[in-house]
Formats: sequence, structure tokens, C-alpha cells
Amino acid sequence: MALCVSMSPKVPVRPAIANLPDYVAGARPPVGRRAYKLSSNESPFPPLPGVLAAVADAAADINRYPDMIAAGLVEALAAHHGVESAQVVAGNGSVAVLGHVLTAFTGQGDEVVYPWRSFEAYPILAALSGATGVGVPLGAEGRLDLPALLAAITPRTRVVMICSPNNPTGPAVRRDELKLFLDAVPSDVLVVLDEAYVEYVTDPDAATYADVAPDHPNVISLRTFSKAYGLAGLRVGYAIGRGRLIGAVRKAATPFGVNAAAELAATVSLSLDLAMRDRVAAVVAARDAMADALRAQGWAVPDAQGNFVWLPAGADAVPFAQDATLAGVMVRAFDGSGVRVTTGEPEAVQALLEVAATWA
Ligand SMILES: Cc1ncc(COP(=O)(O)O)c(C=O)c1O
Repeated sequence: MALCVSMSPKVPVRPAIANLPDYVAGARPPVGRRAYKLSSNESPFPPLPGVLAAVADAAADINRYPDMIAAGLVEALAAHHGVESAQVVAGNGSVAVLGHVLTAFTGQGDEVVYPWRSFEAYPILAALSGATGVGVPLGAEGRLDLPALLAAITPRTRVVMICSPNNPTGPAVRRDELKLFLDAVPSDVLVVLDEAYVEYVTDPDAATYADVAPDHPNVISLRTFSKAYGLAGLRVGYAIGRGRLIGAVRKAATPFGVNAAAELAATVSLSLDLAMRDRVAAVVAARDAMADALRAQGWAVPDAQGNFVWLPAGADAVPFAQDATLAGVMVRAFDGSGVRVTTGEPEAVQALLEVAATWA
């Protein structure tokens, strides 16, 4: 029987969903063409040694559900970060974990404050939770404007997002400014410190969760295996925080949300921290070289603390990205504001630099 496609269903879509922009994934190379993907902030390296074997082992048991809360990985993460297992919750990528955080702590009538431009999932996830998203413009040089974020907090604010390093612009929040900010945030407002790129940070003054957790029980850190650990395709992320907060996130989490292959791959990868750090060091060196070369061309590239650089191309963003595609390099254009380029293979970066020189 042919599926009837002519009749439009009358089921109403929640207005918050109907009005949402779609999440835009980094462009993939066209089928059959040799092209480099510098559009999704992925690792250019293959999985760490032993990870593929672990995935194959896990595949033998896929007729079974995985562990309900990925307990093996959660325990390994707790030991790694020096916290209790009850202080860690894992999920299907940190974007899913953030969704669970927002479901647990926000709803209709609440506000979620976030920097903008920042990670594009923030407004989408805030709206999905039923809350109102409040975007606060960035300050100079692509940095988060912490005083402006503070000023945006109202009695309805339940969650504030801090993205450090900020995707897509690059700078990290400094320890001193974050401490001042947290001292002033009401203690019943949750602050989510999104540290997706924390492994790449080289600024010695940059803040981490460990710097602020002892004095600020209202902070949760969001982390991922998608970037430095190179497991983007398996989808594993997690949050760390006080047990009462993490317990609430667990209640909102998708049951069996981390599959067995992902759990094992992440656990093995975590045990290979030194090998991961070697790879990160290579990416950081290439990132800094790319940023310097772009600055030498005249681009005002902000401080790059993630695995990517930001070109404030303004109105040229989309045509620039089209030119890069023609040169075999996929980058992420944000219409009217800029272009984000992930640090990738040296030949891809070289090709990108040649395109950038023509637009500088
Ligand atoms: C700032 C930030 N947070 C979170 C994520 C989500 O990562 P994942 O869901 O792959 O763990 C990303 C992905 O690009 C990101 O840039």
C-alpha cells in the first residue's frame, strides 16, 4: 500500500518547537570528491590504540542492553576526576547530557541565559525544555561578557551557560573573572560550565571546573569524548557536579543512553590519557600556527583556545566558505558573522590559508 502523503496531519506542534531553527551540522564533503572536513571541530586522528578492538568486543553482545547508567565508565570518570560516582552522569554526547540538565532544572516560565554567539545547541535545547532562552552578546575579541551575563540574570533565571573555550570564537574564560562572576550569581541559579574543548586550553589563566567547584556547589561541568579523545562518532559526554544535582540529571536522562561500544571505547580512551595528550599537543601547535598565519594575513583572529580558529569574515562568511569548498576544504560559515575552521590535516590547513589570503 502506498503511504498517503497528500493529507496534512492536524496534530499541532508545540509552538516552541515549530519556531526553532534546525541544528546545522558542519558540512560533509560531497560524495566522490576528495575534500577535508574542517567544519565540525572533530579530531583528525583515528581512534586511540585498543579502542577499535574494544568496540569489536562490545559488538559481540549487542543483543543485550548496555549498563543502564554506563556504570563502568562513570566509575572510571569519577576516579579520573577525584569525585564520587554519584557526581558523574554520562549520556549520548554532551549535547544530550545538556538536554537532560535543562529538563531537570528548567521549564515553562523559566529563563536560560547563554552567551551569543556560542554553541548553537543552547537556544534549541533551552526552547525544548520549555524555558525562554536569553542570548547575551559577546564582548570584545570574541570573549564572553561575564558582567553582561550577570546583568541578564532575573528572578526567573534557572540556568546560565558558560562556554569555555567559546565555540565558535575561541577564547577561554579566565579564572579571576569566573570567580568574580560566580560570587555574584545567586546560589540557587545553576551555572553550566561547558568544557567541551578544555583539553586544548593553553592559557595559564583559563578557568576550569576544578578551580571553582570547591566554593560554588551550583556549578556543573559538561565534558565530552567527541573532541580530544576522537570519539565523536560514538557519542559519549558527561557532566560532573554535586551529587544532588547529578541525581536529578540522572532522573531526566535517557535510560541506557550510552551504548556498550561507546562505554567501552570511552573507558579505554580515558586510560590512554598520555597518548591523548600527545595528539592534543600536535593539534594545539597546528592551531597556533594557523592562527598566526591568518593574523599575518590581516585577519583579526581572536585568542584560539579550542581545536579551531575564528575568522570574523562578517558578510563574506558564506562566500568565503563556498570558496573554501571549491578548494576542497569544508569549513563552518555563520551567515553574516564569521567562519570557524577546525584544526585538521596540514595539507587542508595549507589549502585553507591560500583561500583566506584572497579574502583577507
Ligand atoms: C561547546 C560545545 N559543547 C558541546 C558540544 C557537544 O558535543 P558532543 O555532543 O559531541 O559531546 C559541542 C560540539 O561541537 C560544543 O562545541
